[in-house]
Amino acid sequence: MRAMVYRGPYKVRVEEKEMPRIEHPNDAIVRVTLAAICGSDLHLYHGLMPDTRVGHTFGHEFIGVVEQVGPSVQNLKVGDRVMVPFNIYCGSCFFCARGLFSNCHNVNPNATAVGGIYGYSHTTGGYDGGQSEFVRVPFADVGPALIPEWLEDEDALLCTDALATGYFGAQLADIAEGDTVAVFGAGPVGLYAARSAWLMGAGRVIVIDHLDYRLEKARTFAHAETINFAEHDDIVVEMKRTTGWIGADRVVDAVGAEADGNLTQHVTGAKLKLQGGSPVALNWAIDAVRKGGTVSVMGAYGPIFSAVKFGDAVNKGLTLRMNQCPVKRQWPRLFEHIRNGYIKPNEIVTHRIPLEHIAEGYHMFSAKLDGCIKPVIVPSAA
Ligand SMILES: NC(=O)c1ccc[n+]([C@@H]2O[C@H](COP(=O)([O-])OP(=O)(O)OC[C@H]3O[C@@H](n4cnc5c(N)ncnc54)[C@H](O)[C@@H]3O)[C@@H](O)[C@H]2O)c1
Ligand SMILES: [Zn+2]
Ligand SMILES: [Zn+2]
Repeated sequence: MRAMVYRGPYKVRVEEKEMPRIEHPNDAIVRVTLAAICGSDLHLYHGLMPDTRVGHTFGHEFIGVVEQVGPSVQNLKVGDRVMVPFNIYCGSCFFCARGLFSNCHNVNPNATAVGGIYGYSHTTGGYDGGQSEFVRVPFADVGPALIPEWLEDEDALLCTDALATGYFGAQLADIAEGDTVAVFGAGPVGLYAARSAWLMGAGRVIVIDHLDYRLEKARTFAHAETINFAEHDDIVVEMKRTTGWIGADRVVDAVGAEADGNLTQHVTGAKLKLQGGSPVALNWAIDAVRKGGTVSVMGAYGPIFSAVKFGDAVNKGLTLRMNQCPVKRQWPRLFEHIRNGYIKPNEIVTHRIPLEHIAEGYHMFSAKLDGCIKPVIVPSAA
């Protein structure tokens, strides 16, 4: 089969790879019909995620058709159209029982923090991902779900990560009626978080980035006010100014480890890897939120420490909430919102790329070229 394969930082290509096999009775093999590249894949692509092995296939956002099922699989049958959450989880451990699907204790022998994630290095279990013609889906009775017949393929695809994560980001921000919500980052996660904030009662939504084409999307898709941080000497002062010198009630970090905006932090965090990524956006969030406010962290950070302004967070009495998104928990609500027309997920898709051309897709998404916001990968396209 054809699959995206990692060859080292900034080097990916499509290669012939062995078909995945049923390795456990509750496995399924899924033929991927659509996949996406996520901002998280860029951390792998840039060589920032520990233990990303040459030969690994990325891709944790995908949908497909069931090709084969193991003998104990009860909820799926061959030919079913399925959406697969990015988390791999057992569904029955202490953590899964509490809905902490992204923190499953049974699927990742390499770490006790994060559970399993498709195509996300051996730090999250070493499972091959879905930027491929076929993928092995462990715990097939637990994660995957049939795609409702009214849900379009691209919308289902976006529910398997980006939309669920953006929505989760807004949820963890504890938004109360009328709150001012600031979202750092106008990528897919930030755009969806901003859009979701309205659904949770926000009175004002402000999106901050330095890419004008993405801020334009934040205005049209998420109906947000926008600020280009590159146009201000100090974005925190600007955030204070626009909120009556108090700060935003709730802030979402939808940027993560590769944040721009401070050269020292960027170089020590993202380039020299002396920190678990640059904490610039997170520190801006801590500074820009009001005393007693909430910071919701959706941006991904590496396992080692980062120079986060923790003392300020303590002295301001902040609530910090964060996790990898437990994707399937979000689906019932997201389905309602999509069905009611409150959100049309694929309005942020900018590119549809054949699997064979995925290297160009990575380059374009990484360098933010050609107005790229969300690239979708189509394995069957020539
Ligand atoms: N927690 C989860 O479950 C989860 C799931 C998906 C993605 N993520 C993480 O969310 C983050 C965003 O993902 P994405 O797909 O939207 O990525 P993306 O790369 O498309 O978007 C990131 C955006 O942040 C902007 N940015 C850079 N520095 C900034 C700064 N200092 N302030 C404000 N904006 C800044 C960039 O210009 C870019 O538009 C990534 O770190 C990704 O790993 C986490
Ligand atoms: Zn992702
Ligand atoms: Zn579990």
